[in-house]
Order: sequence, then structure tokens, then C-alpha cells
Amino acid sequence: MPYSTQLISFLKSCYPEDVSLHTLALHLNLSTTKVMTLISELKDLGYPIVYDNRSCQFDLPLINVESIKSHLDTRTIGHQLIFRDRTPSTNILALEDLDSFSHGDVLLTDYQTNGKGRMGRNWHSSLGKSIALSIILKPDIENKKAVLLTQLTAAALSKSLEPFADTSIKWPNDMIINHKKVAGILTESQFNGSSLEGIVIGTGINTNLDFDDTDEEVRMKATSLLNETHEVVDPNHLITSFISWFDELYTEWTLTGDSSPFIAICKEKSILLNREITVKNEELSRMARVTDINSDGELIVIYEDTGVEEALQTLDFSIRGRQSYI
Ligand code: BTN
Repeated sequence: MPYSTQLISFLKSCYPEDVSLHTLALHLNLSTTKVMTLISELKDLGYPIVYDNRSCQFDLPLINVESIKSHLDTRTIGHQLIFRDRTPSTNILALEDLDSFSHGDVLLTDYQTNGKGRMGRNWHSSLGKSIALSIILKPDIENKKAVLLTQLTAAALSKSLEPFADTSIKWPNDMIINHKKVAGILTESQFNGSSLEGIVIGTGINTNLDFDDTDEEVRMKATSLLNETHEVVDPNHLITSFISWFDELYTEWTLTGDSSPFIAICKEKSILLNREITVKNEELSRMARVTDINSDGELIVIYEDTGVEEALQTLDFSIRGRQSYI
């Protein structure tokens, strides 16, 4: 294991205490000068680390897989947590090597460098200040039902965010606080011919990022839990809760085939229900009223121009409020 990974993991295990350079040198079996070099390399990479010539510590809680494992008691999801210090995208990592992962595995990173969003957009993560994780599923279900997984995930995410802030769900995949996006979900399926090899559900959460420093266009649309609550979030509590909620809703759904428990959460938390919206795809932009989310997870709208009802699937549309992002 690289020394930097050992150092990161040791500092995480000591958080929020600081650690003397002497202790780090003993732990890594390196000189204190070499430890100092490693620390300043982490700082240069952007790790939230503070140090002087005697000691060092992270000044934010980072993802600590051991801590999450010790609090998880799930039936299916998260029996294996696979952590990377850094990866371009947890979804890409999962999809590129799907064979090597099992049903229920969860990939996590503190630092996603090239995250993917829905509809080909980028998803920005900041080192140690956002959560990027992907849940891998290899279920025995038809693809149509896979569409519902985004709604199940949105329900699990909104429940796990409840103790932190009052969030709403903007169908199909955005978590909203104060009309701004705080988290997003990207569900991707992989096929071999017509057989489903697996589904990867990526979730990105802005935890301890500070959007006050970003340009106005981003600030209008995006926020973090820190910005909204002024409290530092421990990602490990949030991840543990999210995986537990996901496991509970997923287990119930696979046993009963009944989507109503999580669709009820999606409806209760929906920011779109009974609202006037604009439905956009590449060619069209149409006004509509949202009337329901059905048991297949589709958004039911009635178009203003024709009065015709349509069930929108998650793939080809973006939804906007009349005047604003939402
Ligand atoms: C969106 O809102 O458009 C979806 C954002 C999904 C981001 C997550 S972060 C973890 C996973 N890996 C990715 O590359 N994307 C998803």
C-alpha cells in the first residue's frame, strides 16, 4: 500500500485528534523528514490537513470505511465497502470492471476527479468535501424496473438527509434545499446483448463544500449541507444512514414487488407535485402541470397546450420551474 494511503488512513483513524510526527514516523516506518514531505504533498493535492513541525491532523472528517462498517447492519447492501483515495468516477470504476464486483458492493472515494452527471453533464466533487459513492446491483429483474431504482435511491437519500436539513426531491434525481441542488443520483445499466449484467447507482452529495467562493451562476443552482446549515457534516454518519435506508427499501421491494413505500416518500418530498413546470428535451420546451408519480416511478404531467397526460420516464428530459432552476 502506498505510504500516502497509509498516512491518510492513519490520520482518519485518529480524527479529530492530532498526531505527532514522531508517531506517524513510527507507524509508517519512515523518517520524520519523509513524513513531512508526504504531509505537504497531501496539502498540495487539496486535502483538508493542518500541520506544523510537531504534529498534524485533518481539519474535516473524511470517509472512514472502518467506521462505516462498524455501524452497518444491513441484509444485502454494503457487505463490501471498496474505498479509493482518488478515482475519476466511482460509476466508471464500477462499470469498467463490473465482473469483479458483487451484488450489493459499494464503491466510495474522498476525491472524484471526473464525475459524471445525468444527460452527459459533469459532476464536480471537491477533495474531502463531498461524498461520491456507487452501489452495484446484479439483480434478477427486468430492466423496466431498474428505472424505479432512481426513485428508491432518492427516497433513501432524502430520509438519510432528514437529520441534517430539510430537503426535497426534484424528480427524477436531484435533492434540493432552498431551491438549490445539494445532491444528485446517476443510475446506469450495463448489458451484454439483451442480458442485464448490472446496475450502478451513483450518488454525489455536497457535504462540506463552500459555494460562497464560486461564481454566481453556480451559486444560484448549487449548495452544500455546510452552506445551508453552517455545521460540518460527518460523511460517515450520512453514508451509514443512506446505505441502511437503501438496504431497507430495496429488501422490502425485492421481497414484495411493491414500490409504494418508497414512491410514497418520493411524493411526500416532491418539490414538483402540483406545480407548473417546463419539460425540455433537445427539440421541445413545453409547459405542463405535475399531477402524480406513478408506481413505476414515472412523473405524470398534463401538457398545457393539448391537455394530454403523459408519463415521463427518467431518461430524456430536464425539468425546470417556470422562473428558476426550481
Ligand atoms: C446528476 O445530478 O446529474 C447526477 C450526479 C451523480 C454524481 C455521482 S458522484 C458518484 C457517481 N460517480 C459519478 O461519476 N457520478 C455519480
